[in-house]
Amino acid sequence: MDNLITKTTELALHLIQPYIKNAPAPAFIIDATCGNGHDTLALAKMLFGSNTGVVQHTPARLLAIDIQPEAIAQTEALLCEAGFSGEVADGRISLICGSHADLTDFFPSDAEAAAIIFNLGYLPGSDKTITTTAETTVKAAEAALGALQENGILSITIYSGHEAGAREKEALMAFASELDPHLYHVAYVSMPNQRNHPPEILLITKK
Ligand SMILES: C[S@@+](CC[C@H](N)C(=O)[O-])C[C@H]1O[C@@H](n2cnc3c(N)ncnc32)[C@H](O)[C@@H]1O
Repeated sequence: MDNLITKTTELALHLIQPYIKNAPAPAFIIDATCGNGHDTLALAKMLFGSNTGVVQHTPARLLAIDIQPEAIAQTEALLCEAGFSGEVADGRISLICGSHADLTDFFPSDAEAAAIIFNLGYLPGSDKTITTTAETTVKAAEAALGALQENGILSITIYSGHEAGAREKEALMAFASELDPHLYHVAYVSMPNQRNHPPEILLITKK
């Protein structure tokens, strides 16, 4: 087994995997920051893969969102290379270029998600000024909680080592700390001995 706690994005995917596996069919999953497509591909394998040892939900839906057209193109290319062009073509995987602050505009109002993930910050290898922000991320997290089904999970990987990321972390922690404990359970994964603002994971489940 990979040493999961050394790889924050893999740890986040590992933590949400049981929520996807146990989701009532049809499972609906959202990647709210698809970027280069690595998380979306991992989720596609969990949902539709034939040989992943995880789960094959049929029918299921995966929605991938990013504000940058090149991220959508890169995610689509990665999915197709990995053999998921059929799911992209028939709409089981949909790719939306837009802001996750408008999350609920991108699917029917009665759809409820089993898992929603955010991997914050900027697109690696691209324009670092196009980054997630405190305002839009908190708005999107609120929308995500509204869209979660009971026992669904919201996972947010936070990078506080850049200026916008530090503000975003502060805003998200304030938002999460104020959530009604009768309605939500919040967990927070940090790496206290790592230097230079290591990534952290905020997890919120709807009771
Ligand atoms: C760290 S990257 C995501 C990495 C990606 N999950 C992967 O596996 O490659 C963060 C992404 O958030 C996107 N982003 C920034 N603001 C956004 C917004 N308001 N709505 C949706 N995506 C946004 C950026 O374009 C960038 O691609």
